[in-house]
Amino acid sequence: MNAQPPAQPLTLPKDFAWGTATAAYQIEGGAKEGGRGVSIWDTYSHTPGLVLNGDTGDIACDHYHRYRDDVETLAALGATHYRFSIAWPRIQPDGRGPVNAEGLDFYVRLVDALLEKGIQPWVTLYHWDLPQALEDAGGWPERDTAERFADYAAAVYGRLHDRVQHWTTHNEPWCASFVGYAEGRHAPGLTDPVAALRAAHHLMLGHGQAVRALRAIDADRDLGITLNLYPVTPLRDTEADQAAATRIDGLMNRIFLDPLLRGSYPQDMLEHIGTIAEPEWIRDGDTETINAPIDVLGINCYSRHVVRAAAEPRTSGAPSVWVGSEDIEFVKLGLPQTEMGWEIDSESLYDVLTRVQRDYGDVFGGRGLRLYVTENGAAFDDAPDGDGQVHDPQRVDYLDSHVRAALRARSDGADLRGYFAWSLMDNFEWAWGYTKRFGLVYVDYTTQRRTVKDSGHWFAEVARRSRDAAAS
Ligand code: FCB
Repeated sequence: MNAQPPAQPLTLPKDFAWGTATAAYQIEGGAKEGGRGVSIWDTYSHTPGLVLNGDTGDIACDHYHRYRDDVETLAALGATHYRFSIAWPRIQPDGRGPVNAEGLDFYVRLVDALLEKGIQPWVTLYHWDLPQALEDAGGWPERDTAERFADYAAAVYGRLHDRVQHWTTHNEPWCASFVGYAEGRHAPGLTDPVAALRAAHHLMLGHGQAVRALRAIDADRDLGITLNLYPVTPLRDTEADQAAATRIDGLMNRIFLDPLLRGSYPQDMLEHIGTIAEPEWIRDGDTETINAPIDVLGINCYSRHVVRAAAEPRTSGAPSVWVGSEDIEFVKLGLPQTEMGWEIDSESLYDVLTRVQRDYGDVFGGRGLRLYVTENGAAFDDAPDGDGQVHDPQRVDYLDSHVRAALRARSDGADLRGYFAWSLMDNFEWAWGYTKRFGLVYVDYTTQRRTVKDSGHWFAEVARRSRDAAAS
């Protein structure tokens, strides 16, 4: 091995957003308080056998009651921005109709607490907690859900646009559609490929309708969406592996990016969808709606996918999230992995950012997009030591190497404006319950005690150094 020169201390560019991210269902708890309705994640987590250890978000990190302390922690970490989501069932318990003022007030108080500390709030309107009543009416596979979403988005924006600059419609429509409706590993737990394709389209339609509605209320805010984008690499340089990579890139990345930023579905994806069902749910004018100009693209990225053409198409096994792709296999490269089993590969973040800039950097008449990493991070098996400290050197390495890769992408032309670590604190990791810890802050779920991990101290140190550098 070549000896590497010691790395320079990490310093962020001036005005670079340095934040952490969370999501309502993963941290809030207070599931029955403040007039909150039931979401698909309440139903899913309360169905025996679906979430590890029978965990639910009923209490989670009790952030609903402890938000002031959590904002103090964010300030101590030196975060300039905080990305959180609004629970739709707190705002409209049944997903439609009048606003529940008590639910909205919680977020007004949270936003005000952040602003008092000089932290910029970054609101995500939908991070997967669809009101159960809307799921009962058909959920995202139904076109009407898109309109319901735009109404809900306008209600929240109407109340908070005076104090929140940054707005994200959806978090990871890929997960909300394919993991929720095709694989069934997320709420609502369906295993129906056509439902997933319909859901993906209606999520994006709802995004476009919401953007239109929000602009009409106040055109002066930064609007965008967060996609989870992964580089997809063929294992071998063969035509068959290349074709496999093109398909998975289509199903993961381009099926969302193209309508959003170019106003049309990629031809190869239309053909692939056509092998599953006639896409009658895509109506004239829909992709124009989805293509409403946005200011910001949020990117969540945790790893990369390496694929190859399967020797034998799979005929049985668990329902696949990759609809109609039984002929493709996913391969591990043998790199170190996080507790999620995700391979650690910081170049994936570099590749995603430079790819988006290269392929989509000229959209909206050349106006382009500002890019933010809205999630990146790692789960490790953290535990306090005898002195109550939490040493997580692997997470420090993960975050440090990924931020450096992101900044390198910026030097190479990606218009990257900020980075959000997932997550502020350990929380309910969906079907994995509380078994996966992603936080910069450790949560003891019995006492709700928070302990800043070494990675949190690292985050604060980067913030301090960058502030000092900007001031000098
Ligand atoms: C992303 C989700 C987020 C969290 C991380 C680990 O897909 O947006 O809520 O679960 O993964």
